[in-house]
Amino acid sequence: MLLTITRLSILLLISIVMMSCRGQKSEKPPIHPQQNMMNQERFNAQQVNPFFEDGRSMREPVTGTISRGGLRHDTVLFEGKDDDDNYVDTNPMEITRDFLYRGKEQYEIFCQACHGGTGDGRGIIMTGGYGYVPAPTFHRSDSYEMSEGELYSSIANGIRSMPAYNTQIKVEDRWAIVAYIRALQKSQNIPEAEMDQFDVDLAQLMREDEERREREAILAEARAVRGDDDVSVERGERLYIQYACQACHSLDGRSLVGPTFADLYGSERNFTDGTSAIADEEYLIESIVEPAAKIVEGYDNVMVAYDFLSEAELQSLVEFIKAQSDN
Ligand code: HEC
Ligand code: HEC
Repeated sequence: MLLTITRLSILLLISIVMMSCRGQKSEKPPIHPQQNMMNQERFNAQQVNPFFEDGRSMREPVTGTISRGGLRHDTVLFEGKDDDDNYVDTNPMEITRDFLYRGKEQYEIFCQACHGGTGDGRGIIMTGGYGYVPAPTFHRSDSYEMSEGELYSSIANGIRSMPAYNTQIKVEDRWAIVAYIRALQKSQNIPEAEMDQFDVDLAQLMREDEERREREAILAEARAVRGDDDVSVERGERLYIQYACQACHSLDGRSLVGPTFADLYGSERNFTDGTSAIADEEYLIESIVEPAAKIVEGYDNVMVAYDFLSEAELQSLVEFIKAQSDN
């Protein structure tokens, strides 16, 4: 008897549960016994309201209302202007290293494409020949004379044909960009004497620059003469640079990825297979066009075969390698 009652009540429970989720939608409001003023008359957005003359239910805030957190009484911060409506000439933010880096980041996102990485106005858009109004360089007196406030305003409001970035760049970030532009201006115009304060080896930079230019000149020359029959140490030197042999072979005895060319010619070479040979002309040429034929002991077989070089080019390289040796 007890068992039957239990069974019956389980059945009843199951059927109630199943009834309550029939998978149908209902338009009727759910039964809500305790109302608590939850449902009141109101207007939906955009609904007509005949009470007002203009018929709108959505009302303008009372003139002068300021939303919480929306007070912009700090005109210096928000407009870059003081109480007399003049542009300020100091950045209201605290200039820290992080702040400058933030400015750099934002500058690179929003300004660099036109004004260039150094602010010289040669951004990728300007040099691409797309017909934009040229973005001016920041390294000219007109830009130096712009106050911080004006720079800020050019971001917030745009300037002449340049559009405003106020919707994209936050107030603090605009000031960060202003600070970064100043840093760029400084960086491009620093007198040599002042450089001493910084941990930069100016002489070294200039030397590297000079070397780079020399290398480029040699490369250009090498490209120009390729194809003739000239065999010379000079040509070999140009090819040594042009084909990047220098990346792996030093001239000063240092071992790089590959063995040095210093005193290579005429020396005895030992190979990974246990054999050895004297580095004569034939060996050098073989090493260049078929480097895998004999692997120098202590090195990996990583050199590509320069089998596309002309006779004259190969011979020039050999002459150049010979010139690095007293043998
Ligand atoms: C789409 C290209 C473009 C981008 C992006 C751009 N600018 Fe410009 N900017 C210009 C052009 C073009 C002018 C010159 C407007 C003119 O003279 O009509 C200009 C002018 C300016 C000037 C006035 C410079 C002077 O000496 O007269 C400032 C300052 C400036 N931009 C800052 C910025 C900053 C900061 C950003 C990044 C937030 C930025 N610009 C992004 C194109 C651009
Ligand atoms: C990616 C690095 C790399 C480049 C680039 C490279 N080499 Fe090599 N070269 C090696 C390595 C590693 C060896 C030693 C292993 C071997 O014998 O293959 C070698 C071996 C040689 C040898 C034999 C050296 C010896 O001590 O016996 C010669 C000669 C040589 N290279 C010439 C050249 C020339 C000329 C060029 C440019 C046209 C060149 N290499 C470019 C890596 C390079």
